[in-house]
Amino acid sequence: MPQIIRILEKEGLEPELILENVALYLDRDGSVLTKFSPQDLADYINEFVDEQAYITVQSKVDSKQELEWMYNKLQRLREGRAFMLIAIDYTTDRLAGILELIPFSFPFQHSCEFSISVRASYRGRGLAKEMFRIAIREAKRMGYINLHLYVSAENKAAIKLYKKLGFKTIVKLKKERYHYGRLVDEIMMVYTGKYRM
Ligand SMILES: CC(C)(COP(=O)(O)OP(=O)(O)OC[C@H]1O[C@@H](n2cnc3c(N)ncnc32)[C@H](O)[C@@H]1OP(=O)(O)O)[C@@H](O)C(=O)NCCC(=O)NCCS
Repeated sequence: MPQIIRILEKEGLEPELILENVALYLDRDGSVLTKFSPQDLADYINEFVDEQAYITVQSKVDSKQELEWMYNKLQRLREGRAFMLIAIDYTTDRLAGILELIPFSFPFQHSCEFSISVRASYRGRGLAKEMFRIAIREAKRMGYINLHLYVSAENKAAIKLYKKLGFKTIVKLKKERYHYGRLVDEIMMVYTGKYRM
């Protein structure tokens, strides 16, 4: 019986949006993230490693590493300039996707970067698009001016998504990213506000 959604409800945490069987939570202080165990997070990340997805992690992680990751994220969230959007399957408590806003440091404090991952079994139903819609709205509300993204030139699905959302290519860097034994081109994109929210 799924527990996490029930606990979140009890704590008065409402999802921003429900999309089919997935609830999208905006997490500003770790109150949603910490409902997951480090092993849940490791299982999540390891699925992306299995498919050699274009995320920063490229070898299997364990719960100890994820505990450390969680601790660092909590510290970052508590500084008040970051947030995470966490998509949870409310029929199983399974993590469906994570979007992070990563703030830049002084003197670039009005810029930030987004990073997103959606578990394969939840793809193709508009989850990433909805997560970005909420994330862009929140980033603007927090005063961020330049919203950045970095994506592998080989990651056609993500590039199509970002272009649809109104991100524009600023620069393409040749052989910038190490990806499972190869150097691949990397694209830097910036939000141009063309998407009607
Ligand atoms: C990229 C990713 C986040 C997309 O998530 P998603 O929830 O499936 O995306 P959505 O369903 O919201 O798709 C939105 C739009 O993106 C584009 N898109 C998404 N997946 C696509 C695919 N496989 N092929 C082509 N276009 C795709 C489409 O334009 C789609 O709109 P449409 O359905 O109206 O045509 C997901 O595939 C993922 O997590 N991949 C692995 C990790 C990763 O690459 N993260 C990004 C690193 S920069």
